[in-house]
Amino acid sequence: MALTRRALLTSAGAGGLAAAAGAGFAVGRDERSDDGADAARQIVPFHGVHQAGIATAAQDRLHFAAFDVEDGLRADDLRDLLRAWSGAAERMTTGRPVGDVADEPLAPPLDTGEAMGLTPARLTVTFGLGPALFDERFGLADRRPAALRDLPALPGDELDAGRSGGDLCVQACADDPQVAFHAVRNLARIGRGAVTVRWSQLGFGRTSSTSRAQATPRNLMGFKDGTANLKAEDTSALARHVWVAGDRAGEPAWLRGGTYLVARRIRMLIEVWDRTSLDDQEQTIGRHKASGAPLGAHDEFARLKVDRLPADSHVRLAAPSTNHGAALLRRGYSFTDGLDDRLGQLDAGLFFLSFQRDPEAFIRVQRQLGANDALNEYIKHVGSGVWAIPPGARRGGWVGQTLLGALSRR
Ligand code: HEM
Repeated sequence: MALTRRALLTSAGAGGLAAAAGAGFAVGRDERSDDGADAARQIVPFHGVHQAGIATAAQDRLHFAAFDVEDGLRADDLRDLLRAWSGAAERMTTGRPVGDVADEPLAPPLDTGEAMGLTPARLTVTFGLGPALFDERFGLADRRPAALRDLPALPGDELDAGRSGGDLCVQACADDPQVAFHAVRNLARIGRGAVTVRWSQLGFGRTSSTSRAQATPRNLMGFKDGTANLKAEDTSALARHVWVAGDRAGEPAWLRGGTYLVARRIRMLIEVWDRTSLDDQEQTIGRHKASGAPLGAHDEFARLKVDRLPADSHVRLAAPSTNHGAALLRRGYSFTDGLDDRLGQLDAGLFFLSFQRDPEAFIRVQRQLGANDALNEYIKHVGSGVWAIPPGARRGGWVGQTLLGALSRR
């Protein structure tokens, strides 16, 4: 068995959690309150019909990690891991440590400690299950949703296998980078012996708005990004385009209330972009740089008349009307990872994240963009992954229970 006893202690259900919280490093927060006071305390509830971190108003910071499962792990180990992760995530989203930090002088503290004294910062932790998890290792092959497959090769792909794929993923978003980092670090620690980090990505600025209450941010090309995104308030559009309802062919019952996540690490060729005239930049995107309005309009939210935009402009090619109605909930972040040693250029860009009811919606849009988008002169897709995002956990439950809870009773 891979999980350590101490790691499991942090996930031993409400009793174990309460006991751990009672001793030593208690931060004195009422763990049951999820009323209006939560907003003031910057808590996004972990439990719910859907996982948090999808229709949640996008936070400012991201720490994303893809994990591979160690050889020899069994289905019940995987179940224990997801239960432990959910318990820890629930604690961290309310600003509590994953376990005691001062109970045992001779052992490493259960929580690494760097979030002590910080607010919960609207932390959300979203878990995903990759296609490879549904092979023969865990007896899950007959539960794999038909739509959960590795993405096909797409036009313009220059993917690095070391930044792609993963059996599991964790998306931690928060308004404080240290809170997001702490979440992934402690989950990786709890999973030691069961999973290893395959790759990870820090994001420093949101590149989308997912609520009408949010201002539209700008991406590293300096354009407003998120204007025409699906928004949390569009509940019927989310029901149609994001949440798996279980009533379409190939949608398994265990994924009802869930969705699919696609991640793409997209490098921007910033030096080239910065030498491009304003006019060319605007023709490339199909919107004005300062206002974010469609070309020829003044208001950011003016209706996009796609046939008046350049045929190869990004928004024209990405719009649902060009793609048989395919719509995505975009929730990406800007990144920079220093200089590309080989080329001496900034390694920076957009860590694109989108949630959709079927990865086919992403594939359709990206086929269109990868083949025709004027933006391709300035970007390179270098990392990729797709995961099924199970529904949210109810109180006392855990993410993945609808899949693995049933499995253990067979
Ligand atoms: C570095 C790469 C990218 C940049 C800089 C970028 C930038 C933008 C900008 C500035 C907008 C207009 C504002 C808005 O409506 O949000 C936009 C819209 C959009 N983008 Fe991208 N984007 C990138 C990659 C992608 C990818 C990979 C996809 C999907 C495969 C995508 C899908 C969309 C969609 C669906 C829209 C909204 C179109 C509409 O309905 O008007 N973008 N993007």
